[in-house]
Amino acid sequence: MSVTFEISPNPSPRTDAEVAELVKDPGFGRYFTDHMAQIAWTKGQGWHSAKIVPYGPIALDPSAAVLHYGQEIFEGMKAYRHEDDSVWLFRPERNARRFQTSAARLMLPELPTDLFVDAARELVSIDARYVPPAAGEHSLYLRPFMIASEAFLGVRAAEEVTFYVIASPVGPYFAQGVTGVDIWVTDRWARAGIGGTGAAKCGGNYAASLIAQYEGYEHGCNQVMFIEASEKDRVEELGGMNVFLVGANGELVTPALTGTILDGITRDSILTVGESLGLKPEQRRLSASEVFSGIADGTFVEAFCCGTAAVISPISGFVTDKGEYRPQGQGFATTLQIRNAVLDVQYGRTPDEYGWLQRV
Ligand code: PLP
Ligand code: COI
Repeated sequence: MSVTFEISPNPSPRTDAEVAELVKDPGFGRYFTDHMAQIAWTKGQGWHSAKIVPYGPIALDPSAAVLHYGQEIFEGMKAYRHEDDSVWLFRPERNARRFQTSAARLMLPELPTDLFVDAARELVSIDARYVPPAAGEHSLYLRPFMIASEAFLGVRAAEEVTFYVIASPVGPYFAQGVTGVDIWVTDRWARAGIGGTGAAKCGGNYAASLIAQYEGYEHGCNQVMFIEASEKDRVEELGGMNVFLVGANGELVTPALTGTILDGITRDSILTVGESLGLKPEQRRLSASEVFSGIADGTFVEAFCCGTAAVISPISGFVTDKGEYRPQGQGFATTLQIRNAVLDVQYGRTPDEYGWLQRV
């Protein structure tokens, strides 16, 4: 399915000097580019009216279903500038497929992969000057999302839906950089349950995680590690990231995909890259008690979290109301090795032997 995007240029874009200044220290998710992509869907008609329009407020009827019942999904992906100035997307078809899975769970229409990828490419092309220079971990973060825009208060799948892509130049997600984050571990709050929406990337999961996140802040932590709700011991993931433990003998352990956690694209890439670095990937059941005792007796020497926004960030410790567990590995050596290997592919500093990059 190939669609032509109708382009309405932004009549008052930022100047080149303003953009160059902004991409030097963009923070995360604070600034947006001049345009956004938009595609409408109507029951019976399918996808139509693909456009690139000036970035700006969305007019929604106050009865739009998304505002009441949260029928919404989103994605997160990045465009990277390479040394030769070319711009690349990383595994965008994986995001497209996950978006389809999320759509099916939320009773939203599935957007074909090529339309999803084309929308991202069109937006990155028109706003390419916002892709920061190849340095540090700066990139252009893309946020595709789909909302139930139909004006109707009955509880049913919306018959009018809108898909958008917005873009934001970003630096590191964690303001303190790659120095290690503390993680609050709680079984008081659950993020998702069996049969729920944990494997979908929908706004409600993030709203549900906030109370735990704020409890974590109160304990000096940056993120929360959620524990599965019924067993109360199985490790799931963080509010916006997957989690890995590094074993003393090169094991690279991450919770298996159980249907209650997100199938992270960074997670998947790390499993592949980790193997090529001689590590031993294990996707399996991981209990919180195993994490704590393994850190205490040196079975686990490092831990890290990973995601498109977070990249790969070392974990300095897991904090609970009973005590703290701090991996004793020196200088996050394995974590940084994996991090550099993945970033080297994303920024084109090493051959893309997996075919993960797509030039814009
Ligand atoms: N888990 C959750 C809850 C997330 O929000 C994210 C971020 O997208 C991830 C995991 C990591 O997924 P990915 O690596 O595809 O960004
Ligand atoms: C991403 O990594 O793309 C996410 O959606 C996670 C969020 C914490 C920003």
